[in-house]
Amino acid sequence: MERNIKKILSQMTLEEKAAMCSGDSFFSTKGLKRFGIPSISMSDGPHGLRKQDDSADILGLNASTKATCFPPEVTLASSFDRRLIQNVGKALGVECQALGVSILLGPAINIKRSPLCGRNFEYLSEDPYLTAEMASAYIDGVQSEGVGTSLKHFAANNQEDFRLSLDVRVDERTLREIYLSGFEAAVIKSQPWTVMCAYNKVNGHYCSENKYLLSDILRDEWGFDGFVVSDWGAVAHRVKAIDAGLDLEMPPSGRQNTIKIIQAVQEGRLGIASLDKVVDRLLRIIVKAADSKKQNASWDIVKHHSIAKEAAMESMVLLKNDQKILPLKKDCDLALIGAMAKIPRYQGAGSSHVNPSVLDDIYEEIKKKTNNITYADGYERYTDRVDESLIKEAKEAALHADTAIVFAGLTEEYESEGYDRPHMRMPENHIRLIEEVTKVQENTVVVLCNGAPVEMPWIGNVRGLIEAYLGGQAFGGAIADILFGDANPCGKLAETFPARLSHNPSHINFPGEQGHVDYKEGLFIGYRYYDTKQIAPLFPFGYGLTYTSFVYTGMSLDKTRMTDEESLQVSINIKNVGEMAGKEIVQLYVGKRDSNVIRPVKELKGFEKIYLEPGEEKTVTFSLGKRSFAYYDTTIHDWFVESGVYRVMAASSAEDIRLEESVYIESTERITHTYTRYSTLGELMDDPDQKRIYEEIIGYLRGEGALLSNLNDNPKMAEGMLRGMALCSVYGFSNTAFDEETLQDILRRLNKND
Ligand code: GLC
Repeated sequence: MERNIKKILSQMTLEEKAAMCSGDSFFSTKGLKRFGIPSISMSDGPHGLRKQDDSADILGLNASTKATCFPPEVTLASSFDRRLIQNVGKALGVECQALGVSILLGPAINIKRSPLCGRNFEYLSEDPYLTAEMASAYIDGVQSEGVGTSLKHFAANNQEDFRLSLDVRVDERTLREIYLSGFEAAVIKSQPWTVMCAYNKVNGHYCSENKYLLSDILRDEWGFDGFVVSDWGAVAHRVKAIDAGLDLEMPPSGRQNTIKIIQAVQEGRLGIASLDKVVDRLLRIIVKAADSKKQNASWDIVKHHSIAKEAAMESMVLLKNDQKILPLKKDCDLALIGAMAKIPRYQGAGSSHVNPSVLDDIYEEIKKKTNNITYADGYERYTDRVDESLIKEAKEAALHADTAIVFAGLTEEYESEGYDRPHMRMPENHIRLIEEVTKVQENTVVVLCNGAPVEMPWIGNVRGLIEAYLGGQAFGGAIADILFGDANPCGKLAETFPARLSHNPSHINFPGEQGHVDYKEGLFIGYRYYDTKQIAPLFPFGYGLTYTSFVYTGMSLDKTRMTDEESLQVSINIKNVGEMAGKEIVQLYVGKRDSNVIRPVKELKGFEKIYLEPGEEKTVTFSLGKRSFAYYDTTIHDWFVESGVYRVMAASSAEDIRLEESVYIESTERITHTYTRYSTLGELMDDPDQKRIYEEIIGYLRGEGALLSNLNDNPKMAEGMLRGMALCSVYGFSNTAFDEETLQDILRRLNKND
């Protein structure tokens, strides 16, 4: 195989170059036989390999080769465990090598703006920092096996409804801080081989031809040097997309776009240099993939199944455990209720759908813990129809048992790629079953199998609640170990469960109207909103119980004052004060009270998961750098740390701050403020460098009959009036002494033009 890309490029024909920009088959690139360049194949992810040899499709409706179905990303993110995610990624890479796949189409990292997004099961979190950390761990794991990844869907693909045509209208600061920062950190930290552009538009331009996103930001600012692949069918105008930085169109569109590219070059509408850059990037990754192929690779089904089980166990979230109803005693009398216990819901629907190598039987796994099981369906598995006879049978089983475990949640058609949910309700027959069972059995535990938050009108009547999310193929073994205490639940929510859908900040502007959606809630999504508005969620971000308990003590910072160029070391002591070994996810939030810009009350800037034996105590340390304190300033179009006092909070959840310290940061940068005639006196009051000029202007307002001479005995009112006064309106309150010439002279001196 020729590896000298420059040499290949110099010898390729225009036809070959143009053809290279589109796939060969549904999931493969074109080869270049005369240079020995092979075609490479790519397949979905993200939580398992969906390789289709024939009848390939993008919605996972057709068969695919058996592979390990790990828990989907919604579940994995609740582990808050970088090492775990990296291990899952590594195992995925091994399976890709074994099946000859060079690029795995994941991770999918779009932010969870609304709980209704049909693909939330495939995404990680409402928080960009957690998203970034999980994405990096996944990419590192997969790529450590010589297999590429495709960070997707770039960008702002936060809903399924109208996804192929929707225009997402979002302000610059929100785009940067919330919807791009996960991509930014993952690209810079882990260099995914490819990035997949989204279907939708962002601020009027399709992502597939959005130069600002694909070139200015992704490449020029973040230094991404892989290739950009379109989402399948996302290309609107191929020639424009080439210029914007879209390298590979998938699936192939026959010769139509190849011809368009050739014509554009021949007619001078597309520079050959732009085309060469695209082909150069494609060839470099293809050669890299070819060189990374491992011959005779194989994978251990049993070992990967155990990784899938560990991932599920580490991710499930214990949300309620009244009277310590859990863990269950071995050999207890158990009513096992719910058709999802017989036919599990363990993954989502759409392009991520995996054909599992093995699938645990929940009933059989629980039977390993107790033989005294009475099973009842409770509801029809594939309809919402309430069946009174099934409920009656379930109540009978519950009545005569020590404990009733009800498996319920969302069935397949409730959440999928391609469409969003219209509400957050569970199927009516699931709700009725839980309500009826709790009428006859106070010791009821619900195990939820769902990919996104649901409303829980029955929550007050159950004693135990486990958010198992979608547990992957090893869900059965994992839930049995958790229920009976052979594993201690240690997951925490990576998203807020709102008490009501209408509390969610995106509610009014979801899914949008007339072809567009406005992100009017701005930065305030998820806990950023509920915190700031002080709206109590059903369960907060970062929340999760365990069978033991932890105490936080001795928070210390290595500095009380620093500049924005330094880093802050934070340490906290965590002690397990219960009787069972367990893991705690320690969260670190940063906030600033008196900011010059609007900010959420606090934002997640660190987390660590630690294992502690009963009575054991460990110190957890964090390092906070510039970006932990910065906001994105749209006057300088860059990240900026304002001087002032910052709160550093150690928490067990977004609503449970255990310890807090503060640090003063002196910014080494200044945002040079350009004053105009419309600038206010308040801006001068807040700018220490302009004190003298401010006093000069006040002098004009003190003259005979001027504003301040009438407000002398009311300084508060005076300051309130001055703060909002524009420079160009001073003359009106200065008894005309402050004329246009004076204003121009002052503006020159303020902007140091003199
Ligand atoms: C789908 C999905 C994308 C997937 C691709 C290939 O439409 O949006 O995530 O990787 O097509 O199946």
